[in-house]
Amino acid sequence: MSEALNSGSAGKTMTLRIRRGGPGETPRYDTFEVPYQDGTSVLDAVMWIHGHVDPSLAIRYSCVNANACKECMLLVDGKVEYACTARLKAGTMTLDPLDNKELIRDLVTDIVPPKERLRNILAERG
Ligand code: FES
Repeated sequence: MSEALNSGSAGKTMTLRIRRGGPGETPRYDTFEVPYQDGTSVLDAVMWIHGHVDPSLAIRYSCVNANACKECMLLVDGKVEYACTARLKAGTMTLDPLDNKELIRDLVTDIVPPKERLRNILAERG
């Protein structure tokens, strides 16, 4: 996370609308005002929300801004993006989980290929 964002000295703020909920729940959008500076990533902002406002917000990531793990994929304003490479912009941005994957909770979806899922492997073995 950028130092300016962490210290609250980023200067500007923008709004993130984030879809919340799990499978079978009625989805809702929560709105967060986020401090940012030019270059702040969507992942930085979600981590800031998780650390400062709402620790229940679910997102998955591993490599943190290295764009190597591919675990942070989500929809940014309806477009598939990596949260760690997408940058915040002024105004309002909307984050949704991937709509072609099984929802786990909030922004987290099951991105493991079906043939690699443990429950499928166990089912095949009987
Ligand atoms: S956090 Fe690893 S690709 Fe985004």
